[in-house]
Amino acid sequence: MAVEKTLSIVKPNSTLDNNIGNIIAIFEKNGLRIAGAKLARLSKEKAEGFYIEHKERPFFGELVNFMTSGPVMLMVLEGENAVAKNRELMGATNPANALEGTIRKLYAKSVGENSVHGSDSAAAAEREIAYFFEKHEVVNRF
Ligand code: CMP
Repeated sequence: MAVEKTLSIVKPNSTLDNNIGNIIAIFEKNGLRIAGAKLARLSKEKAEGFYIEHKERPFFGELVNFMTSGPVMLMVLEGENAVAKNRELMGATNPANALEGTIRKLYAKSVGENSVHGSDSAAAAEREIAYFFEKHEVVNRF
């Protein structure tokens, strides 16, 4: 299996609920390392650009409002099969469908306030990491 990087965002419901550490602990216990991290408050423009593929969806405005409503923790996670591993640890987008023990089952409030974002493919990970991180902000250990 290949060592990969993926983008993780701890969303405002979980930064405001003081669950950043609990979520990082789940990543670290499951073999993902933090290769980059910063706390940020996203501008409307930055959030709209990130979610541009959802622009025509009925929830786009709500999604951008939520993602700019409080701090987000942006992280680059690194490890074997990191893209799929992160998605497994997050659980289903809608917490009502998330498996026991997953981040969304533990901490999400709704399909909108669902605690975390994770890249859904290696190509998306590369694009999303570049959207939030300069090259020098990502530490390569392998
Ligand atoms: P995320 O992985 O960040 O990517 C797109 C986001 O849109 C998704 O997580 C959800 O939080 C959000 N989303 C998806 N469906 C809905 C919905 N029906 N209402 C509000 N937000 C949604």
